[in-house]
Amino acid sequence: MKNQKSLNHRRHDEDNLPQSTAYSPKPHKPWNWLRPLEYVMREQRIVFILVGMLLATVFFVWQPDFVSPDHGAYAIASSSAHLRNPIVVYRPSSRHLGSAAALDLKVPLGLNRIPKRVVVTGGAGFVGSHLVDRLIERGDSVIVVDNFFTGRKENVMHHFGNPRFELIRHDVVEPILLEVDQIYHLACPASPVHYKFNPVKTIKTNVVGTLNMLGLAKRVGARFLLTSTSEVYGDPLEHPQREEYWGNVNPIGVRSCYDEGKRTAETLTMDYHRGASVEVRIARIFNTYGPRMCIDDGRVVSNFVAQALRKEPMTVYGDGKQTRSFQYVSDLVEGLMRLMESEHVGPFNLGNPGEFTMLELAEVVKNTIDPQAKIEFHTNTEDDPHMRKPDISKAKSLLGWEPKIPLKDGLPLMVEDFQQRIFGDHSSASLGKDY
Ligand SMILES: NC(=O)c1ccc[n+]([C@@H]2O[C@H](COP(=O)([O-])OP(=O)(O)OC[C@H]3O[C@@H](n4cnc5c(N)ncnc54)[C@H](O)[C@@H]3O)[C@@H](O)[C@H]2O)c1
Repeated sequence: MKNQKSLNHRRHDEDNLPQSTAYSPKPHKPWNWLRPLEYVMREQRIVFILVGMLLATVFFVWQPDFVSPDHGAYAIASSSAHLRNPIVVYRPSSRHLGSAAALDLKVPLGLNRIPKRVVVTGGAGFVGSHLVDRLIERGDSVIVVDNFFTGRKENVMHHFGNPRFELIRHDVVEPILLEVDQIYHLACPASPVHYKFNPVKTIKTNVVGTLNMLGLAKRVGARFLLTSTSEVYGDPLEHPQREEYWGNVNPIGVRSCYDEGKRTAETLTMDYHRGASVEVRIARIFNTYGPRMCIDDGRVVSNFVAQALRKEPMTVYGDGKQTRSFQYVSDLVEGLMRLMESEHVGPFNLGNPGEFTMLELAEVVKNTIDPQAKIEFHTNTEDDPHMRKPDISKAKSLLGWEPKIPLKDGLPLMVEDFQQRIFGDHSSASLGKDY
């Protein structure tokens, strides 16, 4: 209050000053050529902004490489599409602005792609864990989502402690929110023993689980890849099977929870693509084998190998003349990654066209493990397809992919892994090279 009073008082005093002393003209300053410059420096910041913009424009016009094209999200920058590890360049599209990788447009010197954040559902399983290995090796950050129904921590344990690896115990039937650039959706039991164990859960995983992951892809603008199966062709009336073939599936049989579940998953994937513009990819996987397969999962290769190692007779269902084709897991992983990075939706058959009868396969297993091994015939299981062989011309021409590893080279690697897991035998010499 006192201060206010004194302020008022002062103003009052000033008001009372005689008029003659209130005005004093500015003293004349001599002309100096630096004065305009000082004025511009002090007041005209806008001039500096304009000069800065001009310099930047000149710089970017002369350095066009710094401008990132926005057509297409990814490209395989390899002159040869047949290279095993093509250089994958990430070109962010405006559609992907929701993801951090897309926001950070600059590729650090020395790197030819921006590492991605990838979720692999079912990543603790057989195929998933090999895929995770390749993604980590490529420099990506990987989140594995798995409920460990058929998957095992041991399959991914070697990544524990790596800051680019995370493992989440989660059932895909429940929604999950993750910030990622790509989703490889593998979660689903794949062998008849496991998918028939709880058929309602199997179809729920395929339908509700796929819906949840597609919803996630839509929300965060991620690219989504579905691992479908050759089972969508059922007991095929066309041989070999092309992607255009619609299949011959029993909708009410004991295998339908898997076959029809995967067919519905494909439908959902295409509907999200057409209706919600989600970037999707569909792979139809044919029989795959390799290390880390479940030992007693009832799949023919793992059955024969485990039985021959345990000196039990190899069980052949039916007359053993039904055919299958077998691809080694690293070939499949290469195909999945190429498909994800390509601009093609699919579906694509991913399998080895080399066709074997069950009896021929038993012979290969005998030659690799035990020439004295016996074969035992059992009645065939319901709805077992008579023949299966992929036509992979689409994958060959559009993805530049084809399997490289023949059964005789891949089988010893699987045998070695089974030997270690069945007998705890870590001393056996390598039966083949690592792929
Ligand atoms: N291996 C093949 O020969 C083959 C052939 C055709 C298709 N596929 C497909 O490839 C994918 C992987 O097959 P795989 O051979 O690695 O099988 P797998 O059983 O070894 O792996 C499946 C993984 O999914 C997990 N999982 C299952 N249900 C889940 C759920 N509800 N929530 C979260 N995780 C769940 C399992 O724990 C497991 O880790 C499957 O989608 C399968 O249908 C595989």
